[in-house]
Amino acid sequence: MKRAFSRSPKRQGARAIVSLIMMAMVLSTFGAATSLAQSTPDAGTPEGATPSVGATPAADAPDIPSSSFGTIDGEDVTLWTLTNAAGMEVKIMNYGGIVQSIRVPDRNGNFTNVALGFDNLGDYIEMNPYFGCITGRYANRIALGTFELDGETYNIPINNDPNTLHGGEMGFDKFIWDTIPVETNNGIGLQMSRLSPDGEQGYPGNLEVTVTYVLTENNELRIDYLATTDATTVVNLTNHSYFNLAGEGAGSIFDHELMLNADNYTPVDDTLIPTGVIEPVADTPMDFTTDEEIGARIRNSNFEQLFIGRGYDHNYVLNRPSPDDESLILAARVHEPTSGRTMTIQTTEPGIQFYSGNFLDGSLVGPNGQMYRQGDGFALETQHFPDSPNQPDFPSTTLAPGDEYTSTTIYGFAVD
Ligand code: BGC
Repeated sequence: MKRAFSRSPKRQGARAIVSLIMMAMVLSTFGAATSLAQSTPDAGTPEGATPSVGATPAADAPDIPSSSFGTIDGEDVTLWTLTNAAGMEVKIMNYGGIVQSIRVPDRNGNFTNVALGFDNLGDYIEMNPYFGCITGRYANRIALGTFELDGETYNIPINNDPNTLHGGEMGFDKFIWDTIPVETNNGIGLQMSRLSPDGEQGYPGNLEVTVTYVLTENNELRIDYLATTDATTVVNLTNHSYFNLAGEGAGSIFDHELMLNADNYTPVDDTLIPTGVIEPVADTPMDFTTDEEIGARIRNSNFEQLFIGRGYDHNYVLNRPSPDDESLILAARVHEPTSGRTMTIQTTEPGIQFYSGNFLDGSLVGPNGQMYRQGDGFALETQHFPDSPNQPDFPSTTLAPGDEYTSTTIYGFAVD
């Protein structure tokens, strides 16, 4: 699908302010700006169990610097810059809720951007392999683009032959989200919402979605997701940032050390759909229960799962005390030895997809002017398991009217 876009950033003036105020009024009228994740634990921040976001009236909205990042189909794309007192800086746009850059210090206090991305909107529109975006309505794969709910069969677009990947052709990454700056107990941020209408990409139910990004004073990027529906549907939301803790464009991530809090994973068939079996990682190259270099075993073609994925492209089953536990737990920790940077990921989700950037092939160029080649970035996508709508033994991704989908993920940055 061809979309009209302009690369030339234009300053936004009074029109943007008026539209923000109108957006806030619309949101509060429809109740979308209600307080989020009331029951979500908050172990990742010292403030304790505080809800992340309360609706901020437009008049009190924090003044978050923004600039135009171009237009798409005549609509303005705005890029906001969140900064905390420690100097950490995160840039996020309303197109796809894309996190364009994350600047964090190394052990000598030198800041660099550790998120892969582009320096212009055109590349995001034309060739983005999901860098930084909100992924939905169903993150990851659904086998053969079909599933059944309450006896009805639904067909969704096949955009990753023979399966559906990350929602379909027009996933949540390809829409402009209504965005308002917010001030929360944890820091300033952006609250993004959209109504995914009944039938969008073939999914049933009008789905009201709110995704809130917050930059905390503890060098964390916190993401809270909330969704409600008026008809039974499936939902699986994540953020698809790719990282290189040495800096985007710095080359391979093979020397990064990874720990995944997962004794098990879901092996896949040769179309990357889970077989349904949950396998222990012990004694295999999939084992990251203790710190291991990403590249140490990645070329082991004797281990069929690595060969199928061209590396790691697997959902790990996070260690939880019980299958229905949804507390915020440490899911992953990554350490880059040269810079000393570490990233931890905490989540309320049952799984995390570890993708070692296997399909990057040098055809994309990052903001530093460096090509991204295979293994130059990794993604760790907190999520429900792939293809859950077709896998009765996996945790359910069904959302019914009257229920709330909530999910929280916190990316924390530090140095060794
Ligand atoms: C998937 C990969 C896919 C990538 C696209 C990941 O979430 O697991 O298979 O190629 O997204 O960018």
